[in-house]
Amino acid sequence: MKKLKTAIIGMGYIGVSHIDAVRRIAECELYAVADANRELAQKKAKLYGVPRCYDSIETLLADPDIEVVHNCTPNNLHTAVNKAIISSGKHLLSEKPLALNYNEAKDLLEHSQKNPASLAAVNFNYRMNPMVQEMRRRIAKGDTGDVLAVSGCYLQDWLLYDTDYSWRLEPEIAGPSCCIADIGSHWMDLVQHVTGLTITEVMADLRTVFPKRKKPLTQSETFSTNREKAYELVDVRNEDYGSVLFHLSNGAAGVFTVSEVSAGHGCYFQVEINGAKNSLMWNQEQNDRLWIGRRNAENSLLIRDPACLSPEALEHTSLAKGHPEGWNDAFTGNIRSFYRHIAGGKKGKGDFATLEEAARIVKLTEACVESHRRRGWVSIRE
Ligand SMILES: NC(=O)c1ccc[n+]([C@@H]2O[C@H](COP(=O)([O-])OP(=O)(O)OC[C@H]3O[C@@H](n4cnc5c(N)ncnc54)[C@H](O)[C@@H]3O)[C@@H](O)[C@H]2O)c1
Repeated sequence: MKKLKTAIIGMGYIGVSHIDAVRRIAECELYAVADANRELAQKKAKLYGVPRCYDSIETLLADPDIEVVHNCTPNNLHTAVNKAIISSGKHLLSEKPLALNYNEAKDLLEHSQKNPASLAAVNFNYRMNPMVQEMRRRIAKGDTGDVLAVSGCYLQDWLLYDTDYSWRLEPEIAGPSCCIADIGSHWMDLVQHVTGLTITEVMADLRTVFPKRKKPLTQSETFSTNREKAYELVDVRNEDYGSVLFHLSNGAAGVFTVSEVSAGHGCYFQVEINGAKNSLMWNQEQNDRLWIGRRNAENSLLIRDPACLSPEALEHTSLAKGHPEGWNDAFTGNIRSFYRHIAGGKKGKGDFATLEEAARIVKLTEACVESHRRRGWVSIRE
């Protein structure tokens, strides 16, 4: 099998997870890496034996051998870099959020529609956990009944101290939201993916728990726990906590909380769907389990076991029962589904997030910010 030649731009926190994933996928080979920090790119290229290394995106895109490009740069570069990748005719896998704002996202979507040879997707990686796919299958088959209500949260603690800092807090780099755009985007995407419904209106209450933070004078790594000694005290404009009430396209009600200031949580991503027949609940921190709640019968816990999963979930799991799979496996599974779609001739719609779906998440994020500002409901016009 001919392997697709892959380049990854951005060798920061998530770029390294992309390296791991690409090295595990049979349909592709890691061919080039790039970062504006030349030393960092060279270090990763040497460590992983990557044939080509670039410090400029333009030079990388001019390399005719590269067929697929992953964009792992900070949010403010997504639109320009994604556009350039699509224009180059190479396939694009972009990190979320798709763009800084909906105008940019719409522009990118139109650009992608004019360049159909380049397949474009966005990395909403939680979709491909086998137990999430199991939820999706059960809801689609009608086993859960009509969706009545949805609730959950995504909690982390990496911004708990005023000495914690990230570009995600700066609107110029991250866009107008920190934790709704950063982790709420994953939560909203997953709910729409598993229910097959869309979020039609939102009412958000956002908080900047630390309105002032100590920004290190030298750049520190994302999620770093190193406390820099030299800092400047800066005003924080983006939120580090938020709760959102929402309505789904079938009229069902929903609510979620996102927080990056919740001590003890690293990736507490929980979704509960209450259906007319039963409830389903999944939590990323115990991601091999799916809780099934019933009114007049015993509740049960389905533990990941290839012998008990639907064909859709089975496609995204590889180890036998009792051999735990985790965050990295689902992450790889999402990227693998993108490559299989290309290798299979791009038939139908893959399970990964399309640009259209990702653009809608940008719209929802913007609606949450607008709702908070206006202190009222904001509907999402199509
Ligand atoms: N899917 C997920 O679960 C997930 C998790 C974390 C981050 N992300 C997303 O990934 C993106 C990157 O986040 P991160 O935490 O890795 O950030 P980061 O700051 O750790 O890394 C970004 C890298 O991009 C490089 N860079 C900046 N400008 C560049 C340019 N012009 N050309 C080439 N390289 C450049 C930086 O030097 C840095 O190494 C963000 O959009 C974020 O939302 C997704």
